[in-house]
Amino acid sequence: MGIPFDKLKPPKWGGEVPAPVEREPLVLGTDCVIDPPVILSPMAAVTNSPYRKLCQAMGAGLTVTEMVSDKGLVHGADRALEMVDLQPGEGPVGVQIFGKDPEMMAEAAKVAQAMGADLVDVNMGCPMRKVVSSGHGAALLREPERVRDIFVAMSEAVDVPVTGKTRAGWEDTDAIEVAQAMQEGGAAALTIHGRTRCDFYDGHVDLAVIRELVKSVDMPVIGNGDVCDWVSARRMFHITGCDAVMVARGALGNPWVFREIQADLRGEPIPPKPTPERKRQTVRRHIESYVDTFGVERTCREIRKHLLWYFRDTPGEKVLRRRLSSMETIADVTAGIDAAIEANHGIDERFAKSHPRANS
Ligand SMILES: Cc1cc2nc3c(=O)[nH]c(=O)nc-3n(C[C@H](O)[C@H](O)[C@H](O)COP(=O)(O)O)c2cc1C
Repeated sequence: MGIPFDKLKPPKWGGEVPAPVEREPLVLGTDCVIDPPVILSPMAAVTNSPYRKLCQAMGAGLTVTEMVSDKGLVHGADRALEMVDLQPGEGPVGVQIFGKDPEMMAEAAKVAQAMGADLVDVNMGCPMRKVVSSGHGAALLREPERVRDIFVAMSEAVDVPVTGKTRAGWEDTDAIEVAQAMQEGGAAALTIHGRTRCDFYDGHVDLAVIRELVKSVDMPVIGNGDVCDWVSARRMFHITGCDAVMVARGALGNPWVFREIQADLRGEPIPPKPTPERKRQTVRRHIESYVDTFGVERTCREIRKHLLWYFRDTPGEKVLRRRLSSMETIADVTAGIDAAIEANHGIDERFAKSHPRANS
């Protein structure tokens, strides 16, 4: 079971715009510098190398691969190795591993390090039934001792920082014990998605629980959940006191979110939303990179969901939906993008008038 389409968009927050925040780059270990402290979340079937590179070019200080199985890495399974296909010049990239056996996790961490990972991250938050029923992902929230052993084994096995990504708890917000176990095991940092496993993706993220965790541990905390623009990033930093923010759904079809947050952290004006022409160029660049990495056939199949995200909630989305099933060549894909941009014409004119500098 995947995540329903309507949950692939973080809920909006109302209220006042928080005051600007200042944050130093986050340095983990000796060499892993996350600058700006804004991270592209691991996302299954999304954060492959074309999207990681695009988000990095837009200002993400770190990107993370989708979760990859410890056994898959250790046994050299094609699918696992492809997920960790780190490209030269991509850096800094984290490799996220899921598993539950400390020895196997340590071996997998060694493989990830040898493949160029700048850090390795342990998945302790995946809520999917098939993952937790085998003791992986969020199931680790209920096993602090195992978590400690996993971090001890992995930290001894590799030189790069070992981090963990967790949720606010299983059913109640009780992640503090597991966070402390990570710390005792030698974790370099912790990411917390402020929803419990039972919340899945419902409701708003609980910022108070992230703040509690920040106060309870002596390692950097990365706040995650519902960050989708510079305002929500400020809110996450302000309310929780976290050291960095991680963006998942807010980056779907919106790699520009990283330059917004980066500019805000630097005290620079927020860049305008991309013009239709800029958007066309960026989407095409994403597609070219996809073709270079995975070839035409796979690009035509997998790029469809990205196109829907790029044009989400606009007339262009409807136009694209009608054409998706017949997209078999790059020319079909490009024509679809042009049609979506054309369908948004009136919207774009209004946009251009309200953002006169956007084309510069
Ligand atoms: C399509 C999708 C795939 C995801 N895959 C992973 C994953 O592989 N590993 C992980 O730790 N979290 C995964 N997540 C969870 C996100 O990393 C993030 O914790 C969650 O979406 C909350 O952040 P957001 O409100 O910014 O979306 C995924 C989320 C989405 C939407």
